[in-house]
Amino acid sequence: STIHLADYTVPGWLVDGVHLTVRLAPHATRVLSRIAFRPNPDSPPVPFTLHGEDLRLIHAAIDGQPVTPVVTPTGLTCDTPRSAFVWEAEVEIAPAANTALEGLYMSNGIYCTQCEAEGFRKITYYPDRPDVMAVFTVRIEGDTPVLLSNGDPVAQGPGWAEWHDPWPKPAYLFALVAGDLVAHSDSFTTLDGRCVALNLWVRAADLDKCEFGMGALKRAMAWDERVYGLAYDLSVFNIVAVDDFNMGAMENKGLNIFNASAVLASPETSTDADFRRIEAIIAHEYFHNWTGNRITCRDWFQLCLKEGLTVFRDQQFTGDLHGHAVKRIEDALVMRNRQFQEDAGPLAHPVRPDRFVEINNFYTVTVYEKGAELVGMLKRLVGDDGWRAGMDLYVARHDGHAATIEDWLAAFQDATGRDLTQFMRWYEQAGTPRLTVTDDYADGIYRLHIAQTTRATPDQPDKPPLHIPVAIGLLDDTGAEVVPTTLLEVTEAQQTFTFDGLSARPVPSILRDFSAPVIVNRTVDAAERAFLLAHDTDPFNRWDAGRNLARDMALRLIRTGGGAPDPGYLAGLRATLTDDTLDPAFRALVLTLPADNDLTIALALDGTVPDPDLIHRVREDIRGAIACDLTDILPDLYAAQQVTAPYAPDASQAGRRRLGNAVLMLLSLTDDGAAAQAQFDAATNMTQSLAALGALLSVGRGAAAAQAFHDRWQHDRLVMNKWLAIQIAMAPPEQAVAITDALTRHPAFDWGNPNRFRSVLGTLAAHPAGFHRADGSGYALLADWLIRLDPVNPQTTARMVSAFDGLGRFDAGRQVAMRTALARIRQAPALSRDTTEMVNRLLR
Ligand code: ARG
Ligand code: ZN
Repeated sequence: STIHLADYTVPGWLVDGVHLTVRLAPHATRVLSRIAFRPNPDSPPVPFTLHGEDLRLIHAAIDGQPVTPVVTPTGLTCDTPRSAFVWEAEVEIAPAANTALEGLYMSNGIYCTQCEAEGFRKITYYPDRPDVMAVFTVRIEGDTPVLLSNGDPVAQGPGWAEWHDPWPKPAYLFALVAGDLVAHSDSFTTLDGRCVALNLWVRAADLDKCEFGMGALKRAMAWDERVYGLAYDLSVFNIVAVDDFNMGAMENKGLNIFNASAVLASPETSTDADFRRIEAIIAHEYFHNWTGNRITCRDWFQLCLKEGLTVFRDQQFTGDLHGHAVKRIEDALVMRNRQFQEDAGPLAHPVRPDRFVEINNFYTVTVYEKGAELVGMLKRLVGDDGWRAGMDLYVARHDGHAATIEDWLAAFQDATGRDLTQFMRWYEQAGTPRLTVTDDYADGIYRLHIAQTTRATPDQPDKPPLHIPVAIGLLDDTGAEVVPTTLLEVTEAQQTFTFDGLSARPVPSILRDFSAPVIVNRTVDAAERAFLLAHDTDPFNRWDAGRNLARDMALRLIRTGGGAPDPGYLAGLRATLTDDTLDPAFRALVLTLPADNDLTIALALDGTVPDPDLIHRVREDIRGAIACDLTDILPDLYAAQQVTAPYAPDASQAGRRRLGNAVLMLLSLTDDGAAAQAQFDAATNMTQSLAALGALLSVGRGAAAAQAFHDRWQHDRLVMNKWLAIQIAMAPPEQAVAITDALTRHPAFDWGNPNRFRSVLGTLAAHPAGFHRADGSGYALLADWLIRLDPVNPQTTARMVSAFDGLGRFDAGRQVAMRTALARIRQAPALSRDTTEMVNRLLR
C-alpha cells in the first residue's frame, strides 16, 4: 500500500464543473453530486474510477441513466462512455459520528469540513487528487442560521444557501460550514479598489475574541499586495473557528477553517506568544490563497511546494512586522530543537518525500519548516531581485494549475539564469548536513576550509554534496567588520575560501543569519565565543555565540557528570543582560539555555548515549548557578521590564514581558516564589498570569495558584488547555507521569478533542526527562492513550506516535521499553493505516 512518486500518472478524466447539494442532518446527511467529466487528452484511455470512503451510495446515474457501479471500501468503478458525460450520485454520510475530524463532521453542534489531504472522498465519490481542478457550485440545505461554502454567495433563503467558487480548485480545498454562528465583520479594499467583505465566524460567547484576528487578516492582505503584488480574488473572505480540529487551520478557498486556539485571542485569555502565533497562522492560511490555491500541488509528494513557500512567506511577514533578528532566532530554534531531531532519527524523510502510505503522516516539521529553509536558501542564492523575478514568473506560469518542485525551480532558473540542478538535491535528500570548518592565516591571507557531510538516513545511504549558501563575515579584534557579510557557495565535499589583504588574523562569524539548515562543527574556545557574544555585528550569530557558550558548557558538564559553570559564560550573560541597548526579547533568548532536545542530539551525534535525567539535572544546575551568580542584578532587571501601559501584544511590550518572565523563573529559585506569587496576584493579562503560575509550579509552590487559576477559568476551553499543560510542563521529571495520569482523570480532560489530548499527553511527550523515565512509565502511559485514541482519531494518534522517535538514541533499557510500548500499539485491534505506518517506520 506504499505510494511512490515515481509512479505518478496524469488523471484519466478531468472535471469541467461540480454541483453539490448537501442536505444536512447529523446522522444522515445526503450529498447529491452532478459532475461533468471528460477524458483527459493527455492520458491513455483508463477505466472510470472515483475515490470514496465511508459513503452509503443511494443512487448513481450517467447522463441521466441509472448505473450500478462496482463499489469497494476505497471507491468505485463504472462503465462509462468514452467521451464527456455527466455523473450524478447521491450518498449518505453521518457527520455526527465522524470523530476522525476528516471529511464532514460536527464540532460542538457546528457542521464543518476538513478535506486536506484526502477527506473529500468521505463526502462524496470524486477523483480526490490535487491535479484535478474544477469550478464548484454548492447548495446547502439545513436548519442552522449560517450556511457557508467556498467562493461568492449566490443566493439564499430560509433553510438554504447557494455558493459559487469561480476559481478552479482541487477537492481538498472544498469547505462547508453550518451552524449557530455569529460574525465579527469588517472589510478590506484591494489595491485595485475592490471591496472585500471579511467575516470571522464564531459562537456568540467568543465574539469578544475576534478583533485581533481580524486585524491580523487585514495586515496579511495588505502585506501580500505590497510585497508580492498578490491581491485577494473573491468578494468575501470567511474564517470560522471550531473547537475540534486536528491541526492549526486550513486554507479552503474563501472559507478558512481554524482551530479555535489558532484564531481566538484576548489579553485576558491569550499570551503574547499566542498573539504572535495566531497572527502568523492567519497570515499563513491567507497567503495560501496564492501559494497553494491559485497555484496548487500536482500530487501530495509536492506538499512542500505550497507549505515550505507559505511558511517562508509567513516568516517574512512576521519579521517585517515585528523584527527580523528575533524571528530568525526563533525559526532556527524550531529547526534545531525539532527538525534536526526528526532528521536524525528513524522518521527522517526528504522535504519532498518519494513514498508514503498515509500522506497525513507527512505534515511534518521537515516538510514545513525545513521546506521554508530551502526557500530561504534559494532566495539567498538568487538575490532579492532574482527572488522577485522568479516568484513573478512562477505565478505567471502556473496560475490556475497544479505544479511540481521541478516547475518551481525551473521558474527561478529561467528568471535568473542560475543553475539549480545541484540545489534540487535539498528536496530529495534527508538528513542534516554537518559542516566542519577550520581556518588558517599567514601573510595577510586568511583561508576558511569547509567540509560537508550528511549521515545516512532511512533508505538513503549515500549523500552527494549539496549546494549550501554559507553567509560569513570577518571581524577584527575590536569587533569592526573587515569583511562584511559575504555569501560563500559550498558545492563540494571540501572547499577552501580565501580572503587576502588582511592586516591581522580575523575572527570569523560563520553561518550568519542561519543561512542554511546545517550544523556547524568548529572548535572555538570560550574566549572567542565570548568575543562574538559581545561584538558580532550579525544579530543571529551574536545570539548563537552565547548559545554555543552555554551548549559547550552544558555538554562538558554532562560528560563529566556535573561541576561548576564556566565563569566566562556567566560574565558574558551578565554583560548581555545589563546592556540596555539590546532588545529585551533578544536578551531573553540569550538567557534561554539550549533545550534538552538540542543537547540530546549533540550527544547522540558524537556517539555518547544521552541520559535524559542527567541532561535535565545539568540544565537545572546551570540555572541555579546563574540565579546565584546574577542575584545582584536580577531584581532590578525584573523591575525594569514591568509594563505599566495598558496591555498591547506588540513586540516592544511582549519583549519586556518575555525578559521579565525569564528573569522571574530565575528569581523564583532564590526567593521561594515570592516575586512570582506577587506577579500572579497582580496579573491582569494571561502572559503575566501564566508565567507566574509556571514559575511557582517550577519551584513546587504552585498548588494554590493552580487552584485559583482553575476556578477562575474553568468555563474557558482554551485557557483550560493551558492549565492542563503547564502543570505537566513544569512538573519535576519524577512526577510528570503521575501528574499526567491524574489529569487524564480530571473532568476537564475531554480526550476526543485534539487540543485537550495534546495539552495533556502531548505535553508529557514534550517533557524529555518526564517522558523518558527509565522505568518506561512515560512510554506506557502514552501507549495506553494512543491505543485508546486510534479508533477515534487516527490522525492525531499517528502524529503523536512520533514522540517515540528517540528510539535508537537512548540506552538499552529505554530502548526496550520504547519497543515494548510500540509493539503494544502495533498489536491493537484494527489499528489505523495512519498509526500503523508510523509504528512500522519507527520499528523498522
Ligand atoms: N494546509 C494546512 C496548513 O498548512 C494544514 C492542514 C493539513 N491537515 C491535515 N489533516 N493533514 O495550514
Ligand atoms: Zn500551510
